[in-house]
Amino acid sequence: MKAFAGNTTMNDDIRTVLQDMGPVDFKDKTALVTGGAGFLGSWICETLICQKAHVICVDNLSSGLELNIAHLSRNGNFEFIKHDITEPPHFKSKIDFVLHLASRASPFEFEEFPLEILRANTLGTANALEIAREHKAVFLFTSTSETYGNPAVVPTPESYYGYVNSIGIRGCYDESKRCGEAYVMAYRKQYGMDVRIARIFNTYGPRIRPDGIYGRAIPRFISQALRNEPITVFGSGVQTRSFCYTTDQVVGLLQLASSHKASGEVINIGNDKETTIIELAEIVKKLTGSVSKIEFHPLPQDDPAKRCPDLTKAKKILGWQPKVKLEDGLRKTIKWLSEAGVSVPEKK
Ligand SMILES: NC(=O)c1ccc[n+]([C@@H]2O[C@H](COP(=O)([O-])OP(=O)(O)OC[C@H]3O[C@@H](n4cnc5c(N)ncnc54)[C@H](O)[C@@H]3O)[C@@H](O)[C@H]2O)c1
Repeated sequence: MKAFAGNTTMNDDIRTVLQDMGPVDFKDKTALVTGGAGFLGSWICETLICQKAHVICVDNLSSGLELNIAHLSRNGNFEFIKHDITEPPHFKSKIDFVLHLASRASPFEFEEFPLEILRANTLGTANALEIAREHKAVFLFTSTSETYGNPAVVPTPESYYGYVNSIGIRGCYDESKRCGEAYVMAYRKQYGMDVRIARIFNTYGPRIRPDGIYGRAIPRFISQALRNEPITVFGSGVQTRSFCYTTDQVVGLLQLASSHKASGEVINIGNDKETTIIELAEIVKKLTGSVSKIEFHPLPQDDPAKRCPDLTKAKKILGWQPKVKLEDGLRKTIKWLSEAGVSVPEKK
């Protein structure tokens, strides 16, 4: 349990985030973080609390864990409300920022909970936007590289419209994020709101869930390798992803939320070093000293062949770029998962 709240890796990482934020400062601001008990949301909440902001974390704990924020609940500036964002919440105190992260995000969850995902990114986004409108708050939507589908242009710039199968197994996620983006831009157009959209590319690090349907490639590979179980690769493993470490992602998201120049913009936030899945499996094996075999499974429908962000806009508008190399980020994630225990305790 201690490893979820904070261990040496995570304490070092928070210091790095605070340093890399530069002049970006949320002191005395109030931020509503939807999905704040999840992997990325809990890092955002913790960073904001360290900067002496007031944080209201709204989460229905569908894929998030109370353990992720348990250590923050002792802080008087932190409030946790268990609530589903598809039902409109109301707040009396003034909110300065609405950071909307609430949505399940693992491909296995797309198959089990497509309706929840559709609602969180459509109804949930509209509800979060209404709060921002009521409070004249800055709004940040965490969209995804999945809006590009299986892109024909790689590295993919924000101007690429996407190649998405609306009726495929990823459709609930890809299309609801696209609809969420349309909501964000409609609120800007109709009400002149200060909004920003982050298109996040695959991000990993401490607090990402390794278990069951929540396990995305990196935490799944690490937990399989630590147990010397077969590492499950889908397809031949030649598909590429570009993996961003959590500290880089959190800095990018908070810079995007706070930069005046980013108002009304959609910006890719991720790492632009492409790696094949088979390379990833080999690196994880090497770093864990595992004797796991690599086991090949059929490639799921619409699995993108290549995924890599064009970061020109992030560099130009935010002056942001990722710093953490894949092997370094993996070492930290392996250390955290070894300390936290590879199986996450049953929740709720
Ligand atoms: N991590 C990535 O690689 C990645 C990539 C692209 C986009 N994103 C986006 O970033 C956001 C955070 O992702 P994450 O990786 O931290 O995932 P996560 O599953 O760890 O966090 C999502 C959080 O949202 C909560 N949630 C889900 N539906 C909700 C609802 N209806 N009401 C209230 N809370 C709800 C979950 O309980 C969880 O705590 C998501 O919107 C995701 O789509 C993440």
